[in-house]
Formats: sequence, C-alpha cells, structure tokens
Amino acid sequence: MPRPAQTFPDIQSFIHLLEQRGELLRVREPVSRDLEITEISDRLVKKGGPAVLFENVVGSDYPVVMGLLGTRERMALALGVGDLDELARKIRALIDLGGGGSKLGLLSNLPKLRDAMNLPPRHVKTAPAQEVVWRGDEVDLSKIPVLKCWPGDGGPFVTFPLVITKDPETGERNMGMYRMQVMSKNTTGMHWQRHKTGTRHLEKAKRLGQKLEVAVAIGGDPALIYAATAPIPPVPGLDEFAVAGYLRGQRYPVVRGLTVNLDVPANAEFVLEGYVDPAEDWVVEGPFGDHTGFYTLPDLYPLFHVTCVTMRRNPVYPATIVGRPPMEDAYLIEASERLFLPAAQLIIPEIVDYHMPPAGVAHNLVVVSIKKDFPGQAYKVANGLLGLGQMMFAKVIVVVDENVKVNDMDAVWREVTQKAVPGRDTLTTRGPIDVLDHSSRGWGYGSKLIIDATTKRPEEIGSPKSSREEQAQDYALDVFFPDPVAPTPLQGGLGGDELPHFEGILAQRQTADGYWVVVLDKTRPGQARALAEAFARHPAADGVRHLLICDEQTDVNDMGDVWWTVLNNIDPERDVWNLDGLLAWDGARKLASEGFVRDWPNKLVMSEAVRRRVDALWHVWGLPEQYR
Ligand SMILES: Cc1cc2nc3c(=O)[nH]c(=O)nc-3n(C[C@H](O)[C@H](O)[C@H](O)COP(=O)(O)O)c2cc1C
Repeated sequence: MPRPAQTFPDIQSFIHLLEQRGELLRVREPVSRDLEITEISDRLVKKGGPAVLFENVVGSDYPVVMGLLGTRERMALALGVGDLDELARKIRALIDLGGGGSKLGLLSNLPKLRDAMNLPPRHVKTAPAQEVVWRGDEVDLSKIPVLKCWPGDGGPFVTFPLVITKDPETGERNMGMYRMQVMSKNTTGMHWQRHKTGTRHLEKAKRLGQKLEVAVAIGGDPALIYAATAPIPPVPGLDEFAVAGYLRGQRYPVVRGLTVNLDVPANAEFVLEGYVDPAEDWVVEGPFGDHTGFYTLPDLYPLFHVTCVTMRRNPVYPATIVGRPPMEDAYLIEASERLFLPAAQLIIPEIVDYHMPPAGVAHNLVVVSIKKDFPGQAYKVANGLLGLGQMMFAKVIVVVDENVKVNDMDAVWREVTQKAVPGRDTLTTRGPIDVLDHSSRGWGYGSKLIIDATTKRPEEIGSPKSSREEQAQDYALDVFFPDPVAPTPLQGGLGGDELPHFEGILAQRQTADGYWVVVLDKTRPGQARALAEAFARHPAADGVRHLLICDEQTDVNDMGDVWWTVLNNIDPERDVWNLDGLLAWDGARKLASEGFVRDWPNKLVMSEAVRRRVDALWHVWGLPEQYR
C-alpha cells in the first residue's frame, strides 16, 4: 500500500487550500457565464495566475471555479506530489524498472502496475453528492452555470465532466472526460470520440439492443478529475477510480447512482444521471472552441438524456476552458506524460524521456529522447510509440539523443536542423489521427512525420563504415551535415528588404538555427508549393533547412505561434516537401480549390466587445492588474 498522499476530500477543500496558499481569487461582483468567464480565465492561465472562484454568476445560484489545475505546481499539488516528475519516480519504484530496462520483462511488469495501482473504490451509503435531488421535470440544466466559452461556440458546454459508463458485456467501468454541449433543459451532446472507451461501450449496447446508462460527475477529488483524462493502459482491473485511489493513497469513496446502476464519486459537486439510446439519431454537436486553438466544426454525436440530477447542498461548479495553448489542459497532459513514462519505457526501454509541448496541443508533436545503440533505432522507437494507446494520434515525432532536454524546444529544433537531413532522416507514414485535427485528409485519418534528429550511425548516412567497427574501436561517429547550418538570419516584410518577394507574403524572417518563416495569405491553389520551390532555389536559402509557411494570422517573431500553426495545419505526406535538402512545411490554410474537401476552421479569437468589457470591469471584479 503506498504512503497516503496529501488528499482532498473534495474540490471545495482543494479550493480552500488554494486560498490559504494565496492561489485563489474570489470575484463577488456579477459576471456572465457567456464569454466573460472565459476571457478572464484565459488571461489568468496564460500568465500563470491563480485559480478564481466566481461567486455571483448571472442567472445561476451556483458559483463557478476556474483554473484549479492551471499551473504545473497546482497540478502536482492536486495529485499529492511535490512536482510532476515525482509521478514517474513513484511508478518506476513500483514496477521495479531499475536502470532503464526491465529485467523481469513486460508481461510480468504490467500486472504489477495494475496490482500496485489497484485500490478499488470504497462504497458508502450516503453521500454529499446526493444531498439534493432533481427528478423528471425538475431537471433543468440551465440552472447550472454551464459556460459558453468562445464566440463561435454552438452553445454552452460542460467542460470538466467525468463521464461514467460500464461495458455492457463485461461490466468493466470507465470514466472519461468528454465535453457535453447543453442542448435543452434535460439533454446534452455526448462528445466521446471515435477511439474512446465511451464510444466502444455505446457500440456494444447497440449490438445488444440496449440503452447505455450514463452518469456524469462534475467535481470530485482533483485527482479523479485528472484520472478521467488519463490514457490508462488497457490492463484488466485498472480503471480511473483505481488510479485516483492510488494517487490519493486511499480507496475512492463511491455511492450507487439513484436511478442508474453505476457507481458515482460520493464527493462530487453535481451528478447527472441518465442514458444514451443507441437507437436514436445522433445530433449536431459544435462548433466548439477546442484545445487545438481552432474551432472544431459541427459533427454528429449521440444525445445524452438526463433523467435525474443530484448535488450537494452548496455545490461549486468547476470548469475549464481550452483554446490556444498554453491552457490548463497542458498540465493535465504533462501529468499523464510523467505518470505513464515508466510504462512506455517498459515497452520501449531505450526511451529516456518524452514530451508533448503545448505548441503541439498533445497530439501534434511528441519529442522523444533515446539511448541509441544501433542504426534505425529512432524509427523503431517512433513506430513503437505510434502503437501505444493514444500515442497513435501523434502527428510529428522528433527523436533526439539522450542528452537533449525534451522540453527545451529551442534545443530540440536546433538538433533537428543540425542532425536531420530532410529526406534522408525524415519519413512519412500513415495512421489514425485525432478527430479534432482539421487538416488531415479525412476524418480521423491522415499521415505522420518522423524526424530522426539523433546522431547518425554510419549505415544511416550511406558510409562504407559500419557500426561493428565503431563498436570494436569504441569511438562515436559525429555525423552532421556536409555543410553545417550557420545561416546569417535575414529579415523580410511587407516592404521586403533582404528576403525575396513572393505573391501573398505578409512577413518573413530567418532564424539563426536554420528556419525560414513565411507568413502567407494564400489565395490560390499551388501558391505555397510555388513559393517553396522558388525559395528553395534562391540564394537566401543557403544554410536554411526548413521553410515554415504559416497562415496569415501568425506572428512571424513568435516561434511558439509559428509551430502551433504549422503543426495544426499540416497533413505531412501532403504538406511537407523535401526540395533538395530544404524541408518545406505548408502550414497555410488549405483551400477547396486545392482539393481540400473539408471546411477549414478559424483560430479562436475572443470578440472585441467582450475584451473591452472585461478590460473595463477588471478592477470592479477586484482582479489584480498584473493579470489584466
Ligand atoms: C479538458 C479536456 C477535455 C476533453 N474533451 C474530450 C472530448 O470532448 N472528447 C473526447 O473523446 N476526449 C476528450 N478529452 C480527452 C479524453 O478525456 C482522454 O482521451 C481520456 O483518456 C479518454 O478516456 P477513455 O480512454 O477512457 O475514453 C478531453 C481531455 C481534456 C483534458
């Protein structure tokens, strides 16, 4: 049994602790749940500010709390660890990984992981989550302060829901965080995506001709909120309550739902009980300002009927907003990264570390450092990762040497220009893609780019030498480019100065480490390709390894913005071209006239009117100037 961590009986005790630590603001003046809360929370989270409790939400009796997990430190605090790396250390100690490789082997270690983490929930008879009950006609979701987050959203969305279902055949429980658009006083959309467990449960219910019972908890211990987002490996008996129990160091208290045969967290703030009927038509869900930083377009999803709502006597409604990174979900993702690193290392032992930087919004970019022993190992690791659970969504995987810090993106991108020759050390492949990805050639299907930025073995560069000699002579081959990258950065802009002109360019510049960034207002098919080919031949391309073509809304001076845009907007096989050693990335918008068959979404931008209103009321709400 692990040492009990500092735990929080519920979200309200976590709020209390944050307040004691000076990490919670209270807003007592009225605030609107329609965009205002989003704008305030966005400003706070982007500046690493405190959580905030809105006590007076117009049109609702219940307060809203935002940003509970909005910094790395608060995320760690919620999971009872000093820092997120401690999660990996704890798991590694449990499964006996020792010095980077499993002696016992995968098969004997994964069950150990399950045993170690398996603290089954503890049933209680009465629960705070059921102090107040709405049944039948009393159910009215509009009384709960569900937020409209972005101006183009299709409606209000529950953004921190813990959706509980059971496998209709095996009875195995699942809890996932799937956003829910409120459609009426007693229905919501159920946005479990194609590859998620909720979808599987519904498919089984459909085969069996049954309705699927669903309970949605809002609130609960912050460790449980995290667990609902975690990509838990498919180990029988290991579920979200067990993971939360492990993190808490004690069994999670659950109570039987009042109208569904499902266990729900006894310490939730609200619980929505009901069902999804697979015989019903799906409904249009969205648009929604998503964690990609773009709107996800309307799509069909199942309808959740809420037949009963239970809650505490004085509940607090916790919510999050997603959008252009960094946002709160970046810390949830980082927690998963740390927690599951040892499990990934069990399967792919040469992994030293990995990271999904915020600019890649989780699925668009994975940086992995490896201890390399043989030629081709970078591809072995990348392909292995692509087969691991939700890692299957990774769009670009960059493999670096073990000494490179995976969260130092300047260093990583430098390694890429120094050690990965376009074509020779890049590879596109295909696979499933996150359904939120707007640029893939099809829904949930597209291509991936593997970049091998490790130091090369002779076989990998066509050298007549071999790694056998290298082994025998104990020397390491330093293989860089024939002409190491050292461009003199050139600047360009609307007036155009040192860099060449091309139709549609709004701004451009080169970086000292070999990137040429171009902001392009693309208006005709083939424009980006023609630009790339012209620039590849231009003398200004000397020493440049990557041409990053961005859409017209990109800040040429902000590499975070540049990578966020490019990674979102590419299907690599279609949009990344090797032009004689220059890798050109077409991260501009895709046009119907180019054969792009889906609609192209906009980047999320708050409306000017709301921005101005929030500016004007900032002090009225008592919010500190430094976060304005
Ligand atoms: C804030 C937030 C919102 C999310 N919204 C959704 C969503 O709407 N649909 C979805 O399928 N996954 C969503 N996810 C990701 C899932 O929660 C995550 O993939 C989880 O591991 C799924 O669990 P499952 O494998 O049990 O289905 C969200 C994650 C976060 C952090």
